[in-house]
Amino acid sequence: MSSPWRATVLTLFPEMFPGPLGVSLAGKALATDVWSLEARDIRASATDRHRSVDDTPAGGGPGMVLRADILAAAIDAADASAAGPESRPRLLMSPRGRPLTQSFVRELAAGPGALIVCGRFEGVDQRVIEARQLEEVSIGDYVLSGGEIAAMALIDACVRLLPGVMGKAESASEESFSDSLLEYPQYTRPQAFEGRQIPEILSSGDHAKVASWRRAEAEALTRARRPDLWASHEKAPKSTTKE
Ligand code: ADE
Repeated sequence: MSSPWRATVLTLFPEMFPGPLGVSLAGKALATDVWSLEARDIRASATDRHRSVDDTPAGGGPGMVLRADILAAAIDAADASAAGPESRPRLLMSPRGRPLTQSFVRELAAGPGALIVCGRFEGVDQRVIEARQLEEVSIGDYVLSGGEIAAMALIDACVRLLPGVMGKAESASEESFSDSLLEYPQYTRPQAFEGRQIPEILSSGDHAKVASWRRAEAEALTRARRPDLWASHEKAPKSTTKE
């Protein structure tokens, strides 16, 4: 088998991992070595007897900042423990980072894995971001209390794209996102629920009609809820191979 997709997470809370990544699709793939996960404690690189990793911000202000020397040592220790030369991207989860999109996820999933730094406190000393070439990545315009949950979201999104992880059904829904449309509404039995019926066309057995109904629903939803996605869908070259 080809070498697994490797995730190394640098965190102050290694006990949070694998957490949700240990169950369901990602958990099964982890157990079968489709991918590997190493959570490393940044605090293990602390040097003083209090094992401190942060300090007050230069220039004043609230909160604490993760020290450059400690984080650099933690990154270097992770690199040194790698089997060969390290070619994986180094990411720093941060609300000011590059937005995580499905195309960015696809790019990461196609590579060897990632080393992911989870920020805490008010931030990370800028010098280590530059010196260790960390690419900042955001999972959305809201602030989490740390990068761990963001790292889990990123890893989960990548792992489901690895060869052999998804079944046919999930692969199809990934394809529909690649068309930058939201998913059409789904229904299953019972036929009547609290007076609401399944749309008649779905029981017609006419596959072409069903496909064009779904397409129209997906387009209407996207236009109404996500004008930004709709605009990029309209700009994208039309695909000729899909349903
Ligand atoms: N850390 C805190 N908030 C975050 C966000 N929105 N994305 C990535 N990392 C974060």
